[in-house]
Amino acid sequence: MKPDISDSEAVVSVEIINGDALESLRGLPGECCDMCVTSPPYFGLRNYETAGQIGLEKSPEEYIEKLVDIFREVHRVLRDDGTLWVNLGDSYATRSGPQPPMNTRNKYGHTAKTVPMGYKQKDLIGIPWMLAFALRADGWYLRQDIIWNKTNCMPESVRDRCTKSHEYLFLLSKSPRYYFDAEAISEPIAGSSTKRYMQNIEAQKGSERQPGKSNGPMKGALPRFGGEKYGDSGKKEFKTKDGGVYIPTLRRNKRDVWSISTAHFDGGHFAVFPEKLARPCILAGSRPGGTVLDPFCGSGTAGVVAVKEGRDFIGIEINQEYSKMSSQRITEALIKPREESEYQRMEDDVLPGQMEIDFEGVMI
Ligand SMILES: C[S@@+](CC[C@H](N)C(=O)[O-])C[C@H]1O[C@@H](n2cnc3c(N)ncnc32)[C@H](O)[C@@H]1O
Repeated sequence: MKPDISDSEAVVSVEIINGDALESLRGLPGECCDMCVTSPPYFGLRNYETAGQIGLEKSPEEYIEKLVDIFREVHRVLRDDGTLWVNLGDSYATRSGPQPPMNTRNKYGHTAKTVPMGYKQKDLIGIPWMLAFALRADGWYLRQDIIWNKTNCMPESVRDRCTKSHEYLFLLSKSPRYYFDAEAISEPIAGSSTKRYMQNIEAQKGSERQPGKSNGPMKGALPRFGGEKYGDSGKKEFKTKDGGVYIPTLRRNKRDVWSISTAHFDGGHFAVFPEKLARPCILAGSRPGGTVLDPFCGSGTAGVVAVKEGRDFIGIEINQEYSKMSSQRITEALIKPREESEYQRMEDDVLPGQMEIDFEGVMI
């Protein structure tokens, strides 16, 4: 399915495949994608009423096995320097909770709840980590667990534990060295750090090193981004180790807890992930013009972000209605001019108390 982008000036290519993830991935050539960002159906949560759907397996182990098979194909279609970003929530082993067909927000119901074999009623299953470890055992490099802190989480009627307000986003790579644009997702440093970096270390009493000690920068060192080594920032000219000049940006490497509110989409898909969750993954994981993959494309959020950021997109979705929905949303995103605020990228994720300061120390 090719979205109708004839009205747009798009130079990106978009393909939505209406089919099963495993079968459809098998039809793609090797190393045709730069990165994959996706959110598979959660275990035992929803019935999308489509034959072949993932999530209704009898046991968590069977569910994980199916996902590992699918991600093995993702591994094949990714470039060697490619990354996989998987968002997944956990499930409780429980008989309680909404039973079909009640308490649903659209015609696709919740699943019948049963306690899977080997688990006790009320157990937290630990699905995200089960998947992470299984993928690692299958050859992926498990690089990071990112916490999605849901700032507007659903209230729960529980009284014997805290309300769940987070999900995991795992970063995995095909090779030990991979494409990761840390600078594209850097964030402004905290105000307190800015003050510290601005101090004149050399003029401070007691800042001298112990005789013979020369390891690393002093406490007032400027920040550095992943992988790139900068010289001793105590030197006035900010020389890099390879002789270049380091211009301080007063930005810092993105942290691994992302506070983002959940997305609401009127179009009828109730498990969408927010654009703000997909955007950093796409910016860090692909170059402009690269290809983004989502094998559980749903309403097409990853595709919407990909095309807004000038990337090609391949989406796979088993449910025909959702395939059409994603195609339509991506078309709209291509035709509609981007709102100014979207160019601000990460700036709106700055936490209270943080500020940005330019080179002269003026707040902007
Ligand atoms: C959690 S939703 C993804 C939502 C998506 N991230 C978005 O923002 O809209 C998971 C999707 O996977 C689809 N799905 C389930 N089993 C599938 C399979 N075997 N192959 C491809 N898609 C499948 C479901 O229909 C559902 O739309």
